[in-house]
Amino acid sequence: MRDNEPVNRSDQEADKDQERGSRLHPRVTSFRSRRGALTATQQVCWDETWPQIGRDVGDDRIDTAAWFGRDAPLIVEIGSGTGTATAAMAKAEPQNDLIAVEVYRPGLAQCLQQIQREEITNIRLLRGDAVDVLENMLAPESLTGVRVFFPDPWPKARHHKRRLLQAPTFALIASRLQSGGVLHVATDHAEYAEFIAEVGNAEPQLTALDWESPMTHERPVTKFENKAHLVGSSITELIWGKIRS
Ligand SMILES: C[S@@+](CC[C@H](N)C(=O)[O-])C[C@H]1O[C@@H](n2cnc3c(N)ncnc32)[C@H](O)[C@@H]1O
Repeated sequence: MRDNEPVNRSDQEADKDQERGSRLHPRVTSFRSRRGALTATQQVCWDETWPQIGRDVGDDRIDTAAWFGRDAPLIVEIGSGTGTATAAMAKAEPQNDLIAVEVYRPGLAQCLQQIQREEITNIRLLRGDAVDVLENMLAPESLTGVRVFFPDPWPKARHHKRRLLQAPTFALIASRLQSGGVLHVATDHAEYAEFIAEVGNAEPQLTALDWESPMTHERPVTKFENKAHLVGSSITELIWGKIRS
């Protein structure tokens, strides 16, 4: 997803910047900085709703029960894009609370608009790097589920280090899942799917799910997934459970 990248900079220059890091993103990240302005209507919606249901990523642990106003099973979606799956899945499982994490502000704004229009009450949004969210903002063993739908595949070999789903991220996700919690990944990229399967299967805290999942696995087709269908890519779903203690 590179549509809003500045056009006058080479891949290599962008790589160097990313590897040098910045105050906000001091390591190689799984996303590129993308600019994107909000429409006037999105800005109005943002100003009305973000203070209640959105937050920028920070260092402090979130009191999720206070934020949602109830204590319910918690699911985190990493890289929610425009929030199509977030909204549909939140409506399908009103008994669960969903936190969508995304760096791209216009995507979050679209999600906010849908939340406001459809009066969805069980979604909260975090803007920033999901790795920071997992490391700092969410307690170990606090999540019922984690969803990662269509993570950027970074197909060039020299970019593989940027892939979100690598061994350390699997270990981090698994550490945040409760016993019996679920990790659900979907990708349209065959080679990344193989890589994800291999790394996920090697994570000692995860196992094949052979108990009833505490969350739905029914995803709507997102705009992004639709493009994959149009070019004939097949979709791989990968599901693990956190080993039950
Ligand atoms: C290919 S898009 C898929 C979006 C959405 N899941 C869908 O299916 O339409 C991947 C998204 O992940 C986001 N992303 C990548 N790395 C991220 C990270 N570390 N934290 C939060 N969002 C991230 C990107 O900004 C991008 O919007």
